[in-house]
Amino acid sequence: MKTSEDATDLAARFQAVRRQTETLCGPLSAEDCVAQSMPDASPAKWHLAHTSWFFETFVLASPGYEPFDAAYVHLFNSYYEALGSRHPRSARGLLVRPTLAQVNAYRNHVSERVLALLDRRPHEVVTTIELGLHHEQQHQELILTDIKHLFGTHPLLPPYQLRSSADPTRATLPLGWEPFDAGLHTIGHRGTGFAFDNEGPAHRVFLEPFALATRLVTNGEYLAFVRDDGYQRPELWLSDGFRTRMERGWVAPLYWREEENGFHHYTLGGSRPIDAEAPVCHVSFYEAEAFARWAGARLPTEFEWEVVAADAPISGNFSEDGALEPLPAVTGHERPAQVFGDTWEWTSSAYAGYPGYYPPAGAIGEYNGKFMCNQMVLRGGSCATPRSHIRATYRNFFPPDARWQFSGIRLARSAS
Ligand SMILES: [Fe+2]
Repeated sequence: MKTSEDATDLAARFQAVRRQTETLCGPLSAEDCVAQSMPDASPAKWHLAHTSWFFETFVLASPGYEPFDAAYVHLFNSYYEALGSRHPRSARGLLVRPTLAQVNAYRNHVSERVLALLDRRPHEVVTTIELGLHHEQQHQELILTDIKHLFGTHPLLPPYQLRSSADPTRATLPLGWEPFDAGLHTIGHRGTGFAFDNEGPAHRVFLEPFALATRLVTNGEYLAFVRDDGYQRPELWLSDGFRTRMERGWVAPLYWREEENGFHHYTLGGSRPIDAEAPVCHVSFYEAEAFARWAGARLPTEFEWEVVAADAPISGNFSEDGALEPLPAVTGHERPAQVFGDTWEWTSSAYAGYPGYYPPAGAIGEYNGKFMCNQMVLRGGSCATPRSHIRATYRNFFPPDARWQFSGIRLARSAS
């Protein structure tokens, strides 16, 4: 970021991203924005405030800066220990104050200040503003996943939006296998564009020959696993996975309900019969792993996935497309299809730092590094991810029992 022209471009992107967050909350009532359906999910109002807190804390705050409201420093800190105390995550739904109107005023105040600072001293703030925009895009996806959980567990199953691009008559591609030779590959972010710290350093990884499924696993294929007593057969499951499945009574993906005429599931467009041709979604790592074993395959490592994705165009079904649910793979796509968009893809890789990784100094070092334990890597983005947010080196991560993200399955095999 070297010229005032770049700063102008960043200012335009800043305004567009901030506006998009508010657009996503457009269909929500003030009541919808306050409720919290479970400790892992946050109210939309909290997301609106926290994304502003991030800019206020990491871009605006400097000696002599007066916060918009001193209480917000505590209320809207997510997990940064270096920045002091914070309101408990599981009690975010109790924050009936500040009101939604006050939070929106906070957003406007912070946006105006950030834009003014970018205009006056661009060289000092472009890096943290860029990080703040990618942070806000992460929360845009969380707004959708958290509202889906709130509405999808509500007795009336209210739709978030009436529009849908889903076409239940559309057939998916037949499942194929794309072979890849053994070889040494460079993994991780190189070059100049934005990347999170956890995408580097770039390093070499040797891969044995493998094959990757040419599309995501469908609801129809997953239903066959369910009908084959897949949830009742411990030999298919990791020990932690089967214990979790028993404790929580899992018998199908999150949002699936069996009715007289088959399984239905909640989508952001309301409750519908499952589309056998569309990718299965809202499965945990444990379920993905058990399905892969049942199917005589395995999950890809994150390195296998990245080698394939590095040559794939960043195209697919993203949040801008408006479906907000995964769609069947169609002909005409690159092989393999659905590498980006539709659903995040669980990998068999534990989330850990790459060789030579050290978290950045200061509070911002808590962004990614301190979560590198007991989580699994997911790749590729989903139908709730903004297109401009994803790239081949992007590493998402969630605990193996998480199901409320748009997480699905792509199979891999070792070459025999
Ligand atoms: Fe955050």
